[in-house]
Amino acid sequence: MTLDIQNAIKSRHSKRSFLDKQIDQKTIVTVLEWAQHAASSKNTQPWEVVVVMGETRNKLSKILCEKLDTKQTEDMDYEYMMDPVPDYLIDRARDCGHKLFELKKIGRRDIEARRAHNKENFTFFNAPVQLLFCLPAESGRGNFLDMGLFMQNVMLGLLHFGLASCPQVSIAMYPNTVREVCGIPDDKWIVSGMSVGYPDEDALVNTYVPTRAPLSEWTTFLD
Ligand SMILES: Cc1cc2nc3c(=O)[nH]c(=O)nc-3n(C[C@H](O)[C@H](O)[C@H](O)COP(=O)(O)O)c2cc1C
Repeated sequence: MTLDIQNAIKSRHSKRSFLDKQIDQKTIVTVLEWAQHAASSKNTQPWEVVVVMGETRNKLSKILCEKLDTKQTEDMDYEYMMDPVPDYLIDRARDCGHKLFELKKIGRRDIEARRAHNKENFTFFNAPVQLLFCLPAESGRGNFLDMGLFMQNVMLGLLHFGLASCPQVSIAMYPNTVREVCGIPDDKWIVSGMSVGYPDEDALVNTYVPTRAPLSEWTTFLD
């Protein structure tokens, strides 16, 4: 599949149901090599990636599910969100959550269904590959900019091969477990996970396309 730039950018959406179909490791290598063309401050390229597949993928998923089921928590390596969160951002996040739950027919008070939905993060939505994105410990905010550009390139590059992704900060909520299971040293921060696989086109959840805020809400033209 070859997409033009506009189509690639606009058609990329997070997928949350994947087929039971393995990915050729060479494909992952190609996508990562493309992605590393991302801009970074002074070409520092601070990103590091761990490609988790096969038995390690299954082990990581199992242990993360156990942590979730037994309500164990860990401190993240970094603060994801500003505190307090401005109301307009809360509104957008709520809207996204509500619409996804509506599509999945999960009621507002259905705690069990919401828990099961959350747990799907840790079964990696059945994706065969979990990418872990790491930065050197004590990275600054600018390094996260570099990482974001790189991650977007990864997600776009995957489309070329008919693959899809779901970036997952949820995986970075268990940084110690991720480091231990995957043999990642303590001097690396776990920034995000990302499920990667062939999307299940028949899955209703994969039809979800969140809306975007109107340009006038976030763009100012000066002349
Ligand atoms: C850094 C980052 C972390 C995310 N973490 C999660 C996650 O843990 N679980 C999840 O289901 N989606 C996660 N998402 C996906 C967002 O919910 C999604 O990008 C957003 O709703 C916009 O939808 P789209 O990606 O389909 O365009 C994450 C996205 C980003 C960029």
